[in-house]
Formats: sequence, structure tokens, C-alpha cells
Amino acid sequence: MSAPPVVDLPIEDERLAQDVANGLAAVEKLLRSSVESEDAFVTEASKHLIEAGGKRFRTLMLLLAAQFGDPSAPGVVPGAVVIELTHLGSLYHDDVMDEAPVRRGSPSANARWDNTVAILTGDYLFAQASDILADLGPELIRIQAQTFSRLVQGQIRETVGPREGEDPVSHYLSVLADKTGSLIAASGRFGALLSGSPADVEERLSRACEAIGVAWQLGDDLLDVASSGAQSGKTPGTDLREGIRTLPVLYVLASGESSRLTSLLSGPVAEEDVEEALTLLRAHAGMAQARAELTSWVDRARNDISGLPDIPAKDAFLALCDYVVERSG
Ligand code: IPE
Ligand code: IPE
Ligand code: MG
Ligand code: MG
Repeated sequence: MSAPPVVDLPIEDERLAQDVANGLAAVEKLLRSSVESEDAFVTEASKHLIEAGGKRFRTLMLLLAAQFGDPSAPGVVPGAVVIELTHLGSLYHDDVMDEAPVRRGSPSANARWDNTVAILTGDYLFAQASDILADLGPELIRIQAQTFSRLVQGQIRETVGPREGEDPVSHYLSVLADKTGSLIAASGRFGALLSGSPADVEERLSRACEAIGVAWQLGDDLLDVASSGAQSGKTPGTDLREGIRTLPVLYVLASGESSRLTSLLSGPVAEEDVEEALTLLRAHAGMAQARAELTSWVDRARNDISGLPDIPAKDAFLALCDYVVERSG
């Protein structure tokens, strides 16, 4: 199984395309060197998922956001590495929690080694991120701390589920904003801050990126149902096996119908029922409903992006919005 490639955004402006390509290459280089340890096993375990692939979506957003100031400012590349390492560490931990065997088209760290290695490697990646972040100053350190706090609390609230009387759909959307939107918002904010963009641009980018982040996660949830493992680089049906009620599942359950599908989705789906549940779910109207929700989040982002200064990066952000919608099928 191969990993999905780096986001290949159609960027018409040649100078911007070159800038982004140079930025991605510089981030890649620093990302790899940042996890080098004197202990060869620590380096191997950390590089495992870096080398497996990854779309570098957050890096791309940060680099585009930096275009609204001075994109060659010295903090931009390290800032992207901080975000990418934080994301990566969260994936090592997430695959333990979700008992996921495959990530980026390769065995997850927990599958290749074990949970202990995956958890400690994730911790090591967070530590390396903090080391780089320390040079970027207290404002960014605080943003990162608050972002990470939201990410972790989103993951916790996903695990715990809605409170008594809480609407499951609004609970779920708030989980997505915290577990995924927060770090994608921070990517936009880092890019703006580190390039010295104006404060109103920073706010706008942060809001737009958060909405894109929610849409990104909704797309990821849809792909867990609709895609082949070859497309996502992950094992389809992981959310169903774990009993994580993603949006299409919540819509099926809220429909009030009594069917084979609702009975399958009432708890974690047993391995032998996953294929059947996926087939029934793919054909259910809840999928289109979840896609419509995704589009509404992208539209929110487009609305904020439309107020940005007219530079090529604005068009690239709009193209990114199209990409997020198209990716979900
Ligand atoms: C996966 O993120 C986890 C989510 C928050 C949806 P990505 O889809 O950005 O994963 P990689 O970095 O490309 O592997
Ligand atoms: C991942 O969420 C979110 C974080 C790692 C914070 P998921 O569990 O839905 O993502 P995938 O599908 O495993 O990438
Ligand atoms: Mg997961
Ligand atoms: Mg998860």
C-alpha cells in the first residue's frame, strides 16, 4: 500500500510555485535532521513515518500564509517543522489509541514495534518540536501550548463522547475543531506571524485555516468509509472498528430508522461485520449529508479568504479550498 503524495496544488503564479517548492524542500530537510538522535533506534523510529510519506498539508498552509508578509523570514521554515513534528507526534499517539495498523501506506509504529515505542517516539517528537520552538519566542510558544491543549482535549472529548443531553452532531463538530482545526489554524497563524503579516491578516488566516481544518477532518472521516486503503494510506473502517461515531454515522443514527445498518452502527463494529457496514454506509444518504457539512465549512473559509490582500497566495488558498472539497469524493 503506498502513501498519498504531498498535496499537489495547482499554483499558476510561477514565482509562488517556486517559493512553495523551495519552502517544502527546506522544511523536509530540517524535519529529518530535527529527529536525529545519538541513539540509532530513536532516529529510526522517528523517521519511520516521516519517510513513509504524508501530504505536508499544514506546511503548505503555513508557507502560503507566510506570503502575506516576508516569506523568506528566518522563522518560517522552523515554524513549519514545529507544526509538522507536532502533527506527526499526534499521529504516533493516535494510532495507538485507534489501534490502527497502517499509516501513510506503511505499518504504524505500534504495528511495526509496539505501543510503548509508538508512545515514546511521539513524546520524543513533541520534545524536538519544543526545542525548535524555543528559538521562535514566547508568543509562538504560547500559541503552540494552547493549540496542543485544544488538540488533546478534542481527542479526550472524542473518547468520552457527548455529555448527557448534548447534541451528538454539535459535540462531534466541536471535537473536530479542537483535535484537528486547532493545529491547522496554528499553521496559518504561524505563517502570518513569522513572516510579519499584519494582525488583521493573521486573524483572517487563522479563522480560515481552522474552518479548512474542520473540513479536512470531515473529509478524512468520509475517506475512512469511502476510500480504498490505497487512496488514504490507512485501513478503511478504522473509525467503525473503534466505535468512533463520525458524522455520516451520526446522521444514520439520527435518522431514526431501524435497519441492519443502524444495528451494526450501535457500537464498535466487529471485524467480520466491517465490510457489510461500509457497503451499507456508502450507499446511505448520511454520506451526502456529511459532504454538505464539509462544503459549508469550506465556504466559511472561502468567505474569510476573500477578504485577504490580492496576491497569488490568495488564489492558492482558494485552490486549496477546492482541493479539500474534491478530495472527499
Ligand atoms: C491525518 O492528517 C490526521 C487528521 C487530522 C485527519 P493528514 O491527512 O494531514 O495526514 P498526513 O500528514 O498527510 O499523513
Ligand atoms: C486524528 O484523528 C487527529 C489527531 C491525530 C489529533 P483521526 O484518528 O480521525 O485520524 P486518522 O484517520 O487516524 O488519520
Ligand atoms: Mg486515527
Ligand atoms: Mg483518532
